[in-house]
Amino acid sequence: MLFKQQALLRQKLFVLGSLAIGSVLYLVARVGTLDRLQPICPVDSRLPAPEPEQIPLRTLQFKRGLLHEIRKGNATKEQIRLHNLVQQLPQAIIIGVRKGGTRALLEMLNLHPAVVKASQEIHFFDNDQNYARGIDWYRGKMPFSFPHQITIEKSPAYFITEEVPERIFKMNSSIKLLIIVREPTTRAVSDYTQVLEGKERKNKTYHKFEKLVIDTNTCEVNTKYKAVRTSIYTKHLERWLKYFPVEQFHIVDGDRLITDPLPELQLVERFLNLPSRISQYNLYFNATRGFYCLRFNIVFNKCLAGSKGRTHPEVDPSVVTKLQKFFHPFNQKFYQITGRTFNWP
Ligand code: A3P
Repeated sequence: MLFKQQALLRQKLFVLGSLAIGSVLYLVARVGTLDRLQPICPVDSRLPAPEPEQIPLRTLQFKRGLLHEIRKGNATKEQIRLHNLVQQLPQAIIIGVRKGGTRALLEMLNLHPAVVKASQEIHFFDNDQNYARGIDWYRGKMPFSFPHQITIEKSPAYFITEEVPERIFKMNSSIKLLIIVREPTTRAVSDYTQVLEGKERKNKTYHKFEKLVIDTNTCEVNTKYKAVRTSIYTKHLERWLKYFPVEQFHIVDGDRLITDPLPELQLVERFLNLPSRISQYNLYFNATRGFYCLRFNIVFNKCLAGSKGRTHPEVDPSVVTKLQKFFHPFNQKFYQITGRTFNWP
């Protein structure tokens, strides 16, 4: 009897032991796979990572916790009063450029503990109906924040809409303005791709990119096509400069924000007079998405929606060259005005 019980016990121990060894082997294999799945990082990020500067977890938890509850409408008036929470007009606005990486920039800046973002594009200054609702309506669209935080909103249509500079100037003549740009031809293709996807979703047919950007009568670039006009950055900027001095603008390199976001974000932190708080810890490359994603803390991270980072259609190389030649003089002027030079063709 005793012998039988001992044999049974040994059998149980054997099964448990096997399970434990199996689990350890699985975990080792899994970690190995994850290692192999590491992104093909840009060369810079393959260098030993600098000591990550951690955002103080308490501030972040507080920010994510309470402010998140407020956004969901779950916080009480008492909590809002207790913590001195306010809805502030933006101290900085990402005014454009559409398809430049405006969403990525806003989300990445929101990693900073002193920044809160207006989640939706508000379109206050470019939409006459919204503008007529008045500044209190606009303020009411802003998220709650602690008084020491700054609020940022983004509406890329602001950059190209005639009336917007004057309207923003009337609200706050010393506001900081962020413009994120990409190589103009790539931006135009990205713009086209977004519209094309919208048409396809509605089962509508659409012209090829080449047909839209080239005027068939003259064989020249079609400057009436919106995707082309939006990429003439200097033309739009010059309108803004009638109201704001150039020092109030900061130009973000949208192509670099894709491949190596941290240095671009650090430049923005400096422009906004914020202490440097966003670190490499907050950004990780996701090989499946092909983009950097955001890490807020040990449990919370996120990538941008799938509508960011679409596959672009192949474009006839001769059309690409024609567009690049067309944009070239405008780009030169843009570099000259802004003091920021890009390696655009
Ligand atoms: P594509 O879809 O052409 O690749 P916007 O937010 O102004 O509409 O810009 C969209 C662009 O942001 C995308 O253009 C994508 O390339 C770029 N982008 C930059 N950083 C990104 C990121 N971390 N995740 C996804 N898209 C990013």
